[in-house]
Amino acid sequence: MDLRRRPAAAAAGTDGPPRPRPASAADEELVLRPPNLRVVAAAMVVFLAPFSYLAFVHYPLDADLRRSILICGAMSLAGFLVVLRLIPVAARYLLRRGMFGRDINKRGLPLGEIRVPESLGIVVGIVYLVIAILFQHYNFTADSMWLVEYNAALASVCFMLLLGFIDDVLDVPWRVKLLLPTIASLPLLMAYAGGTSIIIPKPLVSYVGVAVLELGSLYKLFMLLLAVFCTNSINIHAGLNGLEVGQTVVISSAVLIHNVMRIGSSMDLESQQAHAFSIYLVLPFLTTSIALLGFNWYPSSVFVGDTYTYFAGMALAVVGILGHFSETLLLFFLPEVLNFLCSVPQLFGLVHCPRHRLPRFDPQTGLLTGTKDGNLVNIFLRLFGKCSEKSLCIRLLIFQALSCMFCFWLRYMLAGWYK
Ligand code: UD1
Ligand code: MG
Repeated sequence: MDLRRRPAAAAAGTDGPPRPRPASAADEELVLRPPNLRVVAAAMVVFLAPFSYLAFVHYPLDADLRRSILICGAMSLAGFLVVLRLIPVAARYLLRRGMFGRDINKRGLPLGEIRVPESLGIVVGIVYLVIAILFQHYNFTADSMWLVEYNAALASVCFMLLLGFIDDVLDVPWRVKLLLPTIASLPLLMAYAGGTSIIIPKPLVSYVGVAVLELGSLYKLFMLLLAVFCTNSINIHAGLNGLEVGQTVVISSAVLIHNVMRIGSSMDLESQQAHAFSIYLVLPFLTTSIALLGFNWYPSSVFVGDTYTYFAGMALAVVGILGHFSETLLLFFLPEVLNFLCSVPQLFGLVHCPRHRLPRFDPQTGLLTGTKDGNLVNIFLRLFGKCSEKSLCIRLLIFQALSCMFCFWLRYMLAGWYK
């Protein structure tokens, strides 16, 4: 991120910490492009309709559960409107404090010179947390045991939001970035009192020797690794307008569908509660993220920052852990897993890793060309040829959606045989 000191402080030659500056005429003039409402409306329909159909038409869910989902949905909708309203305000403040970035994939064009406000994930994170905290009052289906873990999950998400914001402000080296989710997942790891055993897939039972393997504290290590993976893998599958938010919107929608399918097809009360718990955490995450997508879609008028990528990764990791569907979650993360595997040589210093592993932009044609960097953004360009930033983002999001569909298909095919 291009974090600059305020010009006023630099001119005055002060060594002290930056002090608030009265808004200059230029600050007052910052008028953000309005959100792309067509993208927002399309995303709301595409990503919420399947879940709503399954929850309210297809499966005969319990009336209390439906009431809780409806209230959660109404609060999520309110959160969506608040985020739409607050982003332009927060963008003005962030820009005033020098928190902005340049759009690298538009270098050489006037659009590439614009200071794009950074870290707008902070708005989504705060609104999301307020909704998730207030919602506890209206949850008619959970017992108090769930509330302990629910609040521990929120504490981890909140901690991650803070550390993500710190990363945006301080631009910490990437090895330290790995540590941030480790710290943020502590509240969840300490409060977790659920099962620590895993069910061994049927075909492997004869090799392992038991059907259920008790992992003990190794299970907590697994939870930690999942949180570190989810947060960082979203953060490194990034750099195109709309990609960071787009991928999490697709994954969240798949998680919601998975949750409602599991509730509808399971007789086990504990499993139903676990998936309901996930719905209450993912629904507000999805709607508030869609509002951010409206501003972050090509051409971005705001950047989401590491604040958002870390927050989103942690939000998805905690629902995967506490909803007991981490395997399925990892399958939804297939593009991120592939991107991580391709990135390993650069991440671990075997091959040179530039600060930004982004494609080369040709201002004459407006097309991106893939570089040798080992990430999906460049690999897609090398495989499928040059294209515009918007097309590349759409292609990667389609790949994300196909991966989620593949996961549903795989679960369907392996049902009964695998577990
Ligand atoms: C990660 C990636 C890096 C990628 C960056 C983009 C790794 C190891 N790191 O780094 O390769 O370039 O994310 O987010 O894979 N930006 C754009 N267009 C966008 C989004 C971001 O140009 O649509 C640029 C802006 O200059 C913005 C900056 O990326 O200020 C944000 O980068 P940051 O999130 O700090 O990078 P990392 O997460 O460290
Ligand atoms: Mg980032």
